[in-house]
Amino acid sequence: MTEAEAEAVDAWFADALSLSDPALDAALAANAEAGLPAIDVSPAQGKLLGLLARMAGARRMLEIGTLGGYSTIHLARAVPDGGRVVTLEVDPKHAEVARANLARAGLAERVDLRVGRALDTLAALEAEGAGPFDLVFVDADKPSNPHYLACALRLSRPGTVLIFDNVVREGAVVDAASADASVVGTRAVIEAIGREKRLSATAIQTLGVKGWDGFALAIVGEA
Ligand code: SAH
Ligand code: DHB
Ligand code: MG
Repeated sequence: MTEAEAEAVDAWFADALSLSDPALDAALAANAEAGLPAIDVSPAQGKLLGLLARMAGARRMLEIGTLGGYSTIHLARAVPDGGRVVTLEVDPKHAEVARANLARAGLAERVDLRVGRALDTLAALEAEGAGPFDLVFVDADKPSNPHYLACALRLSRPGTVLIFDNVVREGAVVDAASADASVVGTRAVIEAIGREKRLSATAIQTLGVKGWDGFALAIVGEA
């Protein structure tokens, strides 16, 4: 199996299942135009986020790491009337591009985009009594993932779905001796999820246009 073959499969799924549309394409074009890194979830992964949100009946969602709002569009489209996505982004330029993308997609009023370090914006959300959220998607700086897990749990209820992106890292996640802070943070959060009695969890490897990576998925149970 080659990378090109895995990408061809993603491309065929995207075509056969209509995983792209003008608003999503426009968001990716605006991101590229603004010089944002092309590290959004793939079309198939974005659709998975939206499907998981709908399967969970999620009304209130939290995203950590907005970038240009590509994944936010998928989550916001899954929000029922009266629901909301709160999305957290540290980079003001990313946030500005995301705001324009969300507005162009007709989703601005369903999204509360907060600019600042997630460490701070999460503390503010807790302080204002936000939550519980029904779904939390964590996709920001990977060294902070153990902290984001702790925050997500405080902002959750039994039944909340937690999703962590980029937990495979081209296989580097198995390297216990890694000096890469993203690998260290990913290993730590997976191990913390495994120890956490309230969580029932799995991790799934993915291949395709994002290379070899994966998601961790968990659901919060009773304490
Ligand atoms: N979820 C997006 C991709 C996010 S990329 C998508 O799939 O479309 C990761 C984002 O996290 C970047 O925009 C980066 O600026 C942001 N980020 C990094 N560190 C952060 C922090 N400490 N707080 C909030 N956002 C952060
Ligand atoms: C990177 C971050 C991501 O969230 C992702 O999905 C892919 C790459 C990165 O920082 O390189
Ligand atoms: Mg990611």
